[in-house]
Amino acid sequence: MPLINFILFDGSHHALEGHTGTPVMNLAKRHGLHGILAECGGVCSCATCHVHIDPEWMGKLPPMDEEEMDMLEFAENVDEYSRLSCQIEITEELDGLVVHVPESQY
Ligand code: FES
Repeated sequence: MPLINFILFDGSHHALEGHTGTPVMNLAKRHGLHGILAECGGVCSCATCHVHIDPEWMGKLPPMDEEEMDMLEFAENVDEYSRLSCQIEITEELDGLVVHVPESQY
């Protein structure tokens, strides 16, 4: 199972094994990580699953669709590494992915 690395705002590092075909958000929620609220349950309508992708990994993700881009406008501290974790499906290619959880969702 691919390993997904979450770096929380407090500096803690959580390396979690995820199931392929499921969203990164679900993995964080299943383990009760702080900062991934996911209030809409993963239907891309709340932006409370916002994460910053580690720059090294940014090019390995599939591009955002229009719905994700629109919803990101409602998140805080958005930058060029911002994504909604409910829209990132775990694949074998993402084994080792590093995501940073922003302070704004604490
Ligand atoms: S969980 Fe609501 S937009 Fe991702």
